[in-house]
Amino acid sequence: QELGLKDYYSDYFPVGVAVAPNSFEGKSKELILQHYNSITPENVMKMGEIHPEQDRYNWEAADKMADFARENDMKMRGHALVWHQQTGDWIFEAEDGGQVSKEELLKRMKNHIDTVVSRYKGTIYAWDVVNEAISDDPEEFLRKSEWFEILGEEFIIKAFEYAHEADPEAKLFYNDYNAIIPEKRDRIYKLLKMLVDRDVPIDGVGIQGHWSIFDPSEEDLRKAMDMYSSLGLDVQITELDVSIYPWEKEQRERRPDESDEFTAELQQKQVDKYKMFFEVFRDYKEVMTGLTFWNISDAYSWLDYYPVEGRKNYPLLFDEDYEPKAAYYEVVEFD
Ligand code: XIL
Repeated sequence: QELGLKDYYSDYFPVGVAVAPNSFEGKSKELILQHYNSITPENVMKMGEIHPEQDRYNWEAADKMADFARENDMKMRGHALVWHQQTGDWIFEAEDGGQVSKEELLKRMKNHIDTVVSRYKGTIYAWDVVNEAISDDPEEFLRKSEWFEILGEEFIIKAFEYAHEADPEAKLFYNDYNAIIPEKRDRIYKLLKMLVDRDVPIDGVGIQGHWSIFDPSEEDLRKAMDMYSSLGLDVQITELDVSIYPWEKEQRERRPDESDEFTAELQQKQVDKYKMFFEVFRDYKEVMTGLTFWNISDAYSWLDYYPVEGRKNYPLLFDEDYEPKAAYYEVVEFD
């Protein structure tokens, strides 16, 4: 078999990809087997999918992914146990229709974590336990989610404790986006330090890596790597893609002059950015225990419908025909 990303990076870190179970056929399956030695479920293990009602779990799609990982001797990351999105409303609702009490919510959370983590024990080696708990507002620390409103910051601590009880061998991660830009980085760092200082069972930080041809800078990336690893935590890039559009809020709407064309100029910018990111990753191989791309090829990316519905994006290393792009060769050709 031809070499793939995982072979070029075998002395560095496992290379993973986030997929749906329908990727296990045709060209996407070929690419998964050639290039990656780890998979993450893009959606099917989120609470809203796997546990849509209090007394009902949906195991089929998640089991299919776990079977695929086992059959092909791949690592598997679990994503995500506690998040403010893609979570059924039922969890925050009391029997009488009002808001659930603190005690009851903790009970439900423990139940969810126990059930899901235990089922995939031995297959899933790392879990995103808490996803995106830091606020986007620089003036605010934790996001004002229902988890936070009802449980306070304790929801984070408890989630890690419950996950650790369910599978003491699993590596437990806090995962977030914009983890490199200084104003959010500093608050993520503050949270992680608080968890480490309190001996909460956390093993690592997941830097999502939804980046673009504009951001982040090499300097900011190295600085964030230094800060997070100084806490003694594993660092993983958990959701890498490099958008051809800027991510800043005020630029997220489609501009009038903007086309969906992946011009030679944009391609070159993307090549340069990918090259720089991977140089930094290689330099940090002692602290980086994993790198996962968010989707396989430009044939399908979640960025085709987010944050602007129907705006085509080209964020990955393989093109719409599943062929390696120029950026792929930059990433695998190094001394
Ligand atoms: C995204 C999926 O890729 C989409 O299919 C879904 O519609 C929304 O969620 N941060 C995360 C991921 O932690 O779970 C998100 O995945 C992307 C942003």
